[in-house]
Amino acid sequence: MKNDFQVKKIKHVAIIMDGNGRWAQNRAHRRVWGHVRGSSIVSDVVERSDDLGVEALTLYAFSTENWSRPQAEVKTLFSLLKKFLMRERSRILKNKIRFKVIGDIVNLPEATKDLIAKLENETKDFDGLKLSFAFGYGGRSEIVSGIKSLVEQGIEISEESISKAMYAPEIGDVDLLIRTGGDQRISNFLLWQVAYAELFFTNTKWPDFNTEEYEDILRSVEGRERRFGAVDETESLDSARKMARVNHQQY
Ligand code: IPE
Ligand code: IPE
Ligand code: MG
Repeated sequence: MKNDFQVKKIKHVAIIMDGNGRWAQNRAHRRVWGHVRGSSIVSDVVERSDDLGVEALTLYAFSTENWSRPQAEVKTLFSLLKKFLMRERSRILKNKIRFKVIGDIVNLPEATKDLIAKLENETKDFDGLKLSFAFGYGGRSEIVSGIKSLVEQGIEISEESISKAMYAPEIGDVDLLIRTGGDQRISNFLLWQVAYAELFFTNTKWPDFNTEEYEDILRSVEGRERRFGAVDETESLDSARKMARVNHQQY
């Protein structure tokens, strides 16, 4: 069902789903409990993105740096990815969502890699929401591997060729980057693609995030003016004339 409100300017939303561990610790639980609770709201956010007309949604689920976490926590994150794939498969197919994992997943269990490959293949021609999971993902390593492949193929390095050499070039630049959990940093996420993204940081920890807050963020960012380094011509001419009058009166 389509929502009354539809996004126009925001086509690609990226989310750093942070704050799971602190959410659990604040409730005297182990950190992994936060991941379990956090994973349960992912499908609501996916569905709402689709309803609001978002074209691409990229979710940061596991960074290259997260490999240094305790093995038990890493294992829980693997198993939650597997559960998500099994649980959401039919919904993804029904809603014609194009699913992809971006990042280095060689160290994932074979069964999970098979599920990913199968779902990517089954959905590759779908024209609905482009849903990407960043897993084992690092922005710098994405840029390095993109540039390496251009050099190997003898392709000239340019902004355009680098954009095309990213893991999922079709998702394009990020229009809006949301980070939950209260920290205001990028943590190596989509470094190339966030060049002109609007940034939105919320103190809400990911397990407490919900579709109401998500929609509020989209509404408020849709209202922001994005200038991409330029200025609105009529506005600048008007204000220049006003400034000239003020200056004239003063001197
Ligand atoms: C985000 O939550 C999920 C992952 C990084 C996998 P954290 O586990 O980083 O939670 P905090 O930031 O420590 O609260
Ligand atoms: C970023 O969160 C990665 C994910 C949400 C998957 P982190 O918790 O790992 O980032 P830092 O350590 O706060 O930068
Ligand atoms: Mg964190």
